[in-house]
Amino acid sequence: MLEQIVKPLLSWYDGHARVLPWREDKSPYRVWVSEIMLQQTRVEAVKPFFERFLKALPNVRSLAECSEDELLKLWEGLGYYNRVRNMQKAARVIVEKYAGAFPADYAKLLALPGIGRYTAGAIGSIAFGIQKPAVDGNVLRVLSRVKASYEDVLKQSVKTALEQEVQKIIPKDRAGDFNQALIEIGAVVCVPNGRAKCEECPLAFCCRAKEKGIVEELPKKKAKKERRVEERTVLVLREGDRVAVRKRPSKGLLAGLYELPNLEGVLGEEEVLGQVRRWGLSPLRILPLAGAKHIFSHVEWQMTGYAISLEETEDMEQNGLFFIEAGETEEKYPIPAAFAAYARYMDIVLGQEKYEERQK
Ligand code: ADE
Repeated sequence: MLEQIVKPLLSWYDGHARVLPWREDKSPYRVWVSEIMLQQTRVEAVKPFFERFLKALPNVRSLAECSEDELLKLWEGLGYYNRVRNMQKAARVIVEKYAGAFPADYAKLLALPGIGRYTAGAIGSIAFGIQKPAVDGNVLRVLSRVKASYEDVLKQSVKTALEQEVQKIIPKDRAGDFNQALIEIGAVVCVPNGRAKCEECPLAFCCRAKEKGIVEELPKKKAKKERRVEERTVLVLREGDRVAVRKRPSKGLLAGLYELPNLEGVLGEEEVLGQVRRWGLSPLRILPLAGAKHIFSHVEWQMTGYAISLEETEDMEQNGLFFIEAGETEEKYPIPAAFAAYARYMDIVLGQEKYEERQK
């Protein structure tokens, strides 16, 4: 039944595709960077990151050679940092195995770190015209509605079956446009939040969910596991204009990024002061800060905070803590957006807010 969507979809795309930075020049590197960034992040939020990333690291080789700190800094605020670590691993493979040029081959793309079926299909089809599907959340939504299917789109078997159906209808001469058109319909017409704009949809004529009046019920997603809640106490330790940070471990959540020192649990002033002294520091004053929350994919941090001013003493840099000027994080130290609420107390703006501030 899906065959009938191809022509109307492509004609619609010709007239309605948004002009996006990664659509102008479809080199595999640009397509790859954009697709990885777009995996958990909205188009509007990605745009400034994309431009900056490409300016700093214009090709596979520069990405392969970039230092970890610079890399994480470029990704700061986008979250899911393993995405960019995997990109660097893949870049190194591409340099070593393919002399720095992306292989124009679906199986070889798929074998690269961090590149799954969706991304291999997107790069393959958009940059090389390879006839492979690129089924992301947008496409799953559009197709489960067109088919009026109540199957659970989070199930791998359901996704694989849809990929196979799409595979059969990808036009030979416009594989990339076809995949992007499906994604685009999902992003701007058959939208994830809010009411679908069926009156604008080129697929309305054959959409079974529309016919049955069940558009808003689809797609079906079985409830995911609840997020684990972690309580943390975050400390803004200041000495003059400097503030304490430390590097996180190289494995696990936010690996390798810098953070404000923080402790497990909800601690009171006395407990906090005790710990600060055990770090060999001399607190002068302590001030409670407003609570804050940050949501990761599997964990939620509920944070309590304190601002503590310190006396300048010798040998303050112990236990992995070191002191930096606020301006230095802008250039050097990637601090994840989870700390944004507290970083603000030291005049540091993190992550996406950085761009929002500049637009004001
Ligand atoms: N979301 C994922 N891939 C995209 C693309 N190529 N264009 C717009 N939105 C997207």
